[in-house]
Amino acid sequence: MTTRKTRTARASVSANQLWGGRYAAGPAAVMTAINASIDVDKRLWREDIQGSLAHVAMLAAQGIVSAADAKKITRGLGRVAKEIESGRFVFKTELEDIHMNVEARLAELIGKPAGRLHTARSRNDQVATDIALWLRRACGEAEAAIAALQGALIDQAERHAATIMPGYTHLQPAQPVTFGHHMLAYVEMLGRDRGRFADAAKRGNRSPLGAAALAGTSFPIDRHATAKAMGFDGPTDNSLDSVASRDFGLEFLSACAIASTHLSRLAEELVVWTNPLFGFVTLSDAFTTGSSIMPQKRNPDAAELIRAKAGAALGAFMRLSTILKGLPLTYGKDMQDDKPALFEAADALALSLAAMTGMIADMKANPDRMRAAAGGGFSTATDLADWLVREAGLPFREAHHVTGRLVRLAEEKGCDLPDLSLAEMRAVDKRLAKGVFDVLGIDNSVRSRRSHGGTAPDNVARAAKAARKRWL
Ligand code: ARG
Repeated sequence: MTTRKTRTARASVSANQLWGGRYAAGPAAVMTAINASIDVDKRLWREDIQGSLAHVAMLAAQGIVSAADAKKITRGLGRVAKEIESGRFVFKTELEDIHMNVEARLAELIGKPAGRLHTARSRNDQVATDIALWLRRACGEAEAAIAALQGALIDQAERHAATIMPGYTHLQPAQPVTFGHHMLAYVEMLGRDRGRFADAAKRGNRSPLGAAALAGTSFPIDRHATAKAMGFDGPTDNSLDSVASRDFGLEFLSACAIASTHLSRLAEELVVWTNPLFGFVTLSDAFTTGSSIMPQKRNPDAAELIRAKAGAALGAFMRLSTILKGLPLTYGKDMQDDKPALFEAADALALSLAAMTGMIADMKANPDRMRAAAGGGFSTATDLADWLVREAGLPFREAHHVTGRLVRLAEEKGCDLPDLSLAEMRAVDKRLAKGVFDVLGIDNSVRSRRSHGGTAPDNVARAAKAARKRWL
């Protein structure tokens, strides 16, 4: 796409300066439009220059270019970097991509020696290297942003280790749990998300530079040196794979997709919990919006948009896997379209994580509302069945049946389980005794869930502490 700022082709660039030897005529305007990626991949300028600096230093060390030329090139690249950083650099659509824009400007700045930079490399290994560098950083940024959200959730968990809320399955009242326990469920999911980004960064941390167009090069390059200079664990081991593969991008996108899915679920819960019928939490003014017509409104827009943005990452994964799935080895220009997918997913996730962290940090829980809801829906029926097993020796299936009859009785009377009298209970099953009332309250119910990973407040307080130590 051509932005208004991007300069249009000058008449003098009729044949491309990089392959002008073979070409007599310039491209059609539409060809330039479909071929150019500069509006998207200019975002890789730092990585591109970093790769070129490592490459030219290696070329000089190996005696492939002279020390004098390498010096000019290195200085020139520094000037190009400054121009881009300060916004003075003019990106040109007719120069297609970031690689050629940087190289052409280098030639303007230092003249002939610029032509030596592209020795023993191709844009194919160059772009793979740029993306590998970018992905490594993007994985690190995603991990850090997830850690911040975990921090906000752990703070809430510590505050509300003993705050009772209804636990749901099928969004129907199931058993009482604590709000802190619920917060920590997301800390676990997000911890695995961090692991996925860390894995992707580790596996992708190999340098494709020096694979050249696809077959390697006849120049005596040192790929280990360039890999080391860029902080990679080493060079990739097959030149064809190096320029043809983007699975490190797919791994990043799958990590984004899964993390976005988790964020979307939490967002959905915030939407439900802030509905006045629930009223479990209140979001801050900073993270809600009002209505221009209905003065009472407090809309959870950020949560809704986080829910929507999951589509960006899921779609990006689909987009890139579709680009790759039919491609014969090695490089195909299709692969140029990997970047919009990567950038869109990364941006959507970063924004979603930041907004979710803000919402969770500011969120006020309403323990009274949660508590009132936690007792409803016969949520301690399982405790009653467990009591029959433990105290009266019934097999669980039979206990389940007896409890079911008690629930039906309570339902008919329009009361809760603890409101039934002992006589009414014993009319259903004589093995019921006074002690059963101890387990029908939600506090005792929650307190009794002491099994590893269970919701007992003591467990939750301990788990929050452990999570803080592990993740922050
Ligand atoms: N802009 C291209 C991309 O992002 C760079 C590689 C182009 N290589 C080529 N042989 N045309 O994929």
